[in-house]
Amino acid sequence: MTLRHFLADDDLTPEEQSKILDLAVALKADPTARRPFDGRTVAVIFDKSSTRTRISFEVGVTELGGHPMIIDGSSSQMGRGESISDTAHVLGRNVAAVVWRTMGQERVEEMAANAGVPVVNALTDEYHPCQILADLQTIREHKGATQGLTFTYVGDAANNMGNSYALGMVLAGMHVRLAGPEGYLPDPEIVARAERLAASTGGSIDVTTDVRAATEGSDVVVTDTWVSMGMAYEGRETVFMPYQVNHELMSLADPEAIVLHCLPAYRGKEITAEVLDGPQSRIWDEAENRRHAQKAVLTFLADAADISSDR
Ligand code: CP
Ligand code: NVA
Repeated sequence: MTLRHFLADDDLTPEEQSKILDLAVALKADPTARRPFDGRTVAVIFDKSSTRTRISFEVGVTELGGHPMIIDGSSSQMGRGESISDTAHVLGRNVAAVVWRTMGQERVEEMAANAGVPVVNALTDEYHPCQILADLQTIREHKGATQGLTFTYVGDAANNMGNSYALGMVLAGMHVRLAGPEGYLPDPEIVARAERLAASTGGSIDVTTDVRAATEGSDVVVTDTWVSMGMAYEGRETVFMPYQVNHELMSLADPEAIVLHCLPAYRGKEITAEVLDGPQSRIWDEAENRRHAQKAVLTFLADAADISSDR
């Protein structure tokens, strides 16, 4: 038995990531083929708002044979100051896995260090690794493979999506270009980690303020809100408007390029309605694939921990 967690994209090897995506495809074709949580409960805790993550985990855990226990973090005793480690011990005595959307990455790390069951990051300020698996599944569906493709992320390249794309897409062998305004580019530590991964996957990472150069000939063009949960809106529109994904920017990408957005989207801000709702957009497949990809990662973690024998 190996206790594994999924807290950041590079918690997986390239081979493991690929295996999970294969399983996600199989589970999309046959949603109840695997039931690793039969008779067990998975805690799904939200300290921030959610539509897709909540829906996909609640339905997904049910399809895996388990009971999803959705918890509003602010209504738990953690909201009144009970420690993460005490909460983790109690969760670990009762549930088969913990899925948590919260603020700082150190919070999910503390949960993982103390729960004794697999912990999945359902978005922190620093990473959103479940979203990246869904995006990869979508790219595989529409492009056949990920290896060697050019992937461009435009906008707030210092946020959780920027970090996770840098790591997760390089892990999948893609040439990743992150374009954002000065002051909104990823931490050098993230870039260094992506560069180390690139050496073994054949991918690459480039960071730039030049949005046009970053989009030129790209196979996948992606953006995210300019104002992530917990951030202040003030002044951001002026800084980010040159990084809007619109028809003119898309004319620079490969003619067969697809467009992704993790959602929620703000039409007329980070992306125009004509692109988001246009023929190159694959956002509804992407949103659906959250469920399949997360079921695959939960199954991978359950198999590693051998939870079916842990009754
Ligand atoms: N993409 C995503 O995580 O959506 P929610 O915030 O609605 O869960
Ligand atoms: N960067 C966004 C992603 C939402 C799914 C946020 O953190 O709010």
